[in-house]
Amino acid sequence: MSHAGPDRVRVHPATLAGTVRVPGDKSVSHRCLLLGSLVGEEVTVRGLAPSGDVASTAGALRTLGATVELSPDDEGRLEGRVVGPLREATDVIDCGNSGTSLRLLAGVVAGIDGLAVLTGDASLRRRPVGRVVRPLTAMGAHLHARGDDVPPLVVRGGDLRGITYEQPHASAQVKSCVLLAGLRADGPTTVVSPMPSRDHTERMLRHLGATLDVAIADDGTERVTITPGPLVAAPLHAPRDPSSAAFWQVAAAVAGTTISTPGVLDGETRNGALRVLQEMGADATVTPVDTDGSEPVADVTVTGGDLRGGLTLGGRLVVDALDELPVLALAGAMSAEGLEVTDAAELRVKESDRVATTVAALGALGVTLQARSDGYRVEGGQRPRGGRVDAAGDHRIAMTAAIAGAVGDAPVEISGFAAVATSYPTFLDDLTALGGRVELLD
Ligand code: S3P
Repeated sequence: MSHAGPDRVRVHPATLAGTVRVPGDKSVSHRCLLLGSLVGEEVTVRGLAPSGDVASTAGALRTLGATVELSPDDEGRLEGRVVGPLREATDVIDCGNSGTSLRLLAGVVAGIDGLAVLTGDASLRRRPVGRVVRPLTAMGAHLHARGDDVPPLVVRGGDLRGITYEQPHASAQVKSCVLLAGLRADGPTTVVSPMPSRDHTERMLRHLGATLDVAIADDGTERVTITPGPLVAAPLHAPRDPSSAAFWQVAAAVAGTTISTPGVLDGETRNGALRVLQEMGADATVTPVDTDGSEPVADVTVTGGDLRGGLTLGGRLVVDALDELPVLALAGAMSAEGLEVTDAAELRVKESDRVATTVAALGALGVTLQARSDGYRVEGGQRPRGGRVDAAGDHRIAMTAAIAGAVGDAPVEISGFAAVATSYPTFLDDLTALGGRVELLD
């Protein structure tokens, strides 16, 4: 379902312009499969990303007894059907590179009577799970993790009680994990977060008939309450991924070209990077598209020019642009006045330590960033020169380096490029279609 592409590539400077149809949204694709398998009758899905992470969720659900049948549509997006119910798995559940799969599945298996062992690749086995152990334990499940905080994660699920859980960070994965467990609890469950985060689980649960209340207080605190009950089958649809579109939007913004990305998810919790580029001085046209799915969708066209920069990002904007912060560092470097990112300590525990790997990747290209414990600062007026970058096993670092090669002054050689299959296996095809020049080295 996902294809490991070339692992070493050289990207040459080029003018990137045109229209690109990016793959389905990774976060929504996971949820189409996960929530679809909880309905108890057949649910059709379409628009899913043909990516490694989504394949991990599909494989995990099959291990849990679901039928998941997916095949490519005429644009390479996956469509098919999911049929639950889920039951105790007879083998360990391999989540590959996908933190979203592991953390959301923890909430699902907490509601299944039986034992589950969740694990993943070397990167995932370094990422924290204490954040889901705490609330699920409070709900009555029994969980054990290595060193209490990293996978493998062992869950003995069963009778759950409804709780109110206040999470310290605005993590959509933790919120979703607890809401999915709450669906199977003995009474309502509330998740309180310091601010809103991506809300795909809430939107899709409502789309499937769940009872859900969402309130955002004046101070920004978000409270989401789920009342347990059955889900009702409805078709599920993943729009295109704004986090994938962001690479091309940054390319257009810094190079002064125009790139259109039709049909991307356009919820407020996901379009933070686009808002940042607009505030930096890029021009964006956003045209809403009708959809029968659970998410707002828009055609987005970005035209670059002289990027001013000079912004400090923190709070809500950081959560809304979380996965785009590596490539936004490149936009900051190529703007007049640079970019500062605070409140982003979570970057340290993504597929890699993204403060360190962004600093190293752009540093290898002569772009200087100052690492901060909770973000970075980058001076403006810098252009990437050629060089060699190690993707550090992180798809978004690999793609950030590729964009730096395309918009910079000299070729960039990237090793570990196969990691892009995690979210965007067709990245090089799209780069070429927009006018990019790529050499495959092995
Ligand atoms: C995701 C939530 C975010 C994001 C990740 C996908 C999701 O993580 O970084 O790529 O699909 O819920 P956190 O919830 O841990 O911040």
